[in-house]
Amino acid sequence: MNENIKSSNSINISYPFSPPIADTRLPDNLVKEIADYCNEIWEKELKSGEKNGELEYGDKLVGRNFSEINIREILDKSGAAVGICQVAAHFLNSTQVLLNPGQPLLSQDIRLVGAWANLSLPNYDYNPIHMHPDCLLTTVGYLEVPDWKKMRMAAEKQKVTKFQFKDGHPGSLVLLPEVVAKHSPFVPHAINIIPEVSKYYMFPANIKHCVYPYPDGYGYRKSFVVNISLSAEGFRKTNIPQFCKSTSFGMFN
Ligand SMILES: [Fe+2]
Repeated sequence: MNENIKSSNSINISYPFSPPIADTRLPDNLVKEIADYCNEIWEKELKSGEKNGELEYGDKLVGRNFSEINIREILDKSGAAVGICQVAAHFLNSTQVLLNPGQPLLSQDIRLVGAWANLSLPNYDYNPIHMHPDCLLTTVGYLEVPDWKKMRMAAEKQKVTKFQFKDGHPGSLVLLPEVVAKHSPFVPHAINIIPEVSKYYMFPANIKHCVYPYPDGYGYRKSFVVNISLSAEGFRKTNIPQFCKSTSFGMFN
């Protein structure tokens, strides 16, 4: 190879069509505080078969989950809301795509526009392919997950490994980016996220995604979702077109 070409100094690699995804790990005590709050409500709901009317969030959502409850109160009380705003500001400042030069977002420019926790029951619950149209980012964190290892070993014994685990893991979150070249070796057609307790993911809210069901006998799948938009001041710092500010990306406050 020509020596000049071999040098990588002048080669820039960009990925303007690849949506960014952030992942981090939440502190254990925070996960426990949110999980304890939800479990107290879910235990009552499971026992009585009746939903907590005050916190019920499922009528706003697609999909089938035993329970979806509003968790805004515990996010504020535990300090998680502030932490999430910090992560979102970092994420948006790092990706730069939406920002005016020299106008970094601060955590107070971030707005949480929806927050709920899901209890998905085995052999039954799932989320079909959907997106979150009224916000800029969506995020998901995991409070409790089934014993995947035990599940995989059982599937192996039943020789269903390929069927269940090659093209999609039970109970996983599958991201399906729309802007991809079909059959391209450079862009995956789907990203399979296997839930892990305390892991927290953040991605553009217009990325389509779904959640697979999972079999019985290995525990529950419990997660929480937070939708994120910007304050009026936050929007001012971005290049988001005016017409988007009151439609796809949420209303001004
Ligand atoms: Fe979703």
